[in-house]
Amino acid sequence: MDKERVIVIDFGGQYNQLIARRVRECSVYCEIFSYKTDLGKIKAMNPKGIILTGGPSSCYGEGAASCSRELFELGIPVLGLCYGAQLMMHVLGGRVDRAPVREYGRTEVRVDTSSRLFRDVPSHTVCWMSHFDYIAEMAPGFRSVAVTADCPVAAAECPEKALYAIQFHPEVLHTIEGSKILFNFVRDICGCAGDWRMDSFVEENIASIRRKVGKGRVLCALSGGVDSSVAAVLLSKAVGEQLTCVFVDHGLLRKNEGDEVEAVFGPEGGYDLNFIRVNARERFYERLRGVSEPEAKRKIIGEEFIHVFEEEARKIGAVDFLVQGTIYPDVVESGLGGESAVIKSHHNVGGLPDCVDFKEIIEPLRSLFKDEVRKVGLELGIPEHLVFRQPFPGPGLGIRIIGEVTAEKVRIVQDADAIYREEIANAGLEWEIDQYFAALTNMRSVGVMGDERTYDYAVALRAMKTVDFMTAESAPIPYEVLNKVSSRIINEVSHVNRVLYDITSKPPGTIEFE
Ligand code: XMP
Repeated sequence: MDKERVIVIDFGGQYNQLIARRVRECSVYCEIFSYKTDLGKIKAMNPKGIILTGGPSSCYGEGAASCSRELFELGIPVLGLCYGAQLMMHVLGGRVDRAPVREYGRTEVRVDTSSRLFRDVPSHTVCWMSHFDYIAEMAPGFRSVAVTADCPVAAAECPEKALYAIQFHPEVLHTIEGSKILFNFVRDICGCAGDWRMDSFVEENIASIRRKVGKGRVLCALSGGVDSSVAAVLLSKAVGEQLTCVFVDHGLLRKNEGDEVEAVFGPEGGYDLNFIRVNARERFYERLRGVSEPEAKRKIIGEEFIHVFEEEARKIGAVDFLVQGTIYPDVVESGLGGESAVIKSHHNVGGLPDCVDFKEIIEPLRSLFKDEVRKVGLELGIPEHLVFRQPFPGPGLGIRIIGEVTAEKVRIVQDADAIYREEIANAGLEWEIDQYFAALTNMRSVGVMGDERTYDYAVALRAMKTVDFMTAESAPIPYEVLNKVSSRIINEVSHVNRVLYDITSKPPGTIEFE
């Protein structure tokens, strides 16, 4: 049976999974392959369309990621984006050069609405540009169908051969009509019917997990967060009794969270997950003592996690598979997202110690974004209050305490965060902000309290609005609420004498501090 699919060819752009996700939003199955993938393999998949991603280099540079001319001669519609657009021109006989003016960010664009790519798109709109090279000369047979003030070929087409090139990034939300443009390509130009749904993802995943696991035993790392909860419930539907879920309380959870997780997933809760709780806080604190470098902390926490699992696995007996709730943004920012660059190494991803004695890791959510994971959660019947819980990173408060982690600092950040969350809920804002938390800076400063000099820590508050956690904007919390949070934290949490509100967006910041 031939499943209708569009494939994305990865040349190392930062937004590759966003492209795949936009295709899924058109109800079309989508997979990403490296540009090194053999053309024969691509042909054998019989895709309805091919999308070439952006990438960091110049397509005319030595050793640049490339593709063969034949790719454009398969009779399959191809859409090149940014680097992909330039590469298409370069390979087919056009000329790509260093642009006289580099374009970055929101840019006005004029499009030719007679192109099928721009059907129902207004002729003047805004797109997201990020390039230093430009298409100086189109390949023979192409015509320009979009321009900006500095870019004479912001899009080009050769409809007879179903070849399309776009210099900007339609996959990014800042390109106002981006989803429509991709829809036009996928559904109209490629002719996809669009019958793929999230429930197919769930069914296919359950079936493929069953095939993979066979009669093997599975150990799942359950943190109580959205990702691992969805992964655990997915696994329990697939392999039932063969699954054991271990919850490691690493002492870096939010206030009272350990008990809350146990209440939901433990023996008294509503799931049948063979739940085991391990209280390992002391050994994590011990290993983190004196360590302040963020990547080192992440590595230690990740490794210690795996050690705890190994020990637990030995107690349980032979275990063949380890499940983790890794989702796509973790993968891409850890530099494992195909051809793109490392931002930070997320715990949950890679970094297994040599002595690991599981056969394999299963990461059923590895290709999904957070909001897609939530859709899967709902599909699996997980209650909304769990599905819409805000994300919490694997290394927990370990990366919300800047610098060395100590039991005392954990206590401070837990108490401050609990107050912050309580006040956000009191103000009725909890569903309006996608992620919010208190972090403990490493900064101590002078203050005055009851005529006494203090020299204490500064807590930083973060509140972000985001759809996919790849880009995010600071949420505007009313001043009265901030004021109340600030005075409560200073009054109620000892060793804090200053509260700061971080309004940096992502990029250039990240959501977490480390
Ligand atoms: P950043 O800080 O990279 O975070 O902008 C993006 C999203 O990912 C969460 N995050 C993590 N999640 N393991 C996780 O499972 C990690 O190591 C990790 N680091 C960050 C973060 O909370 C935000 O939602």
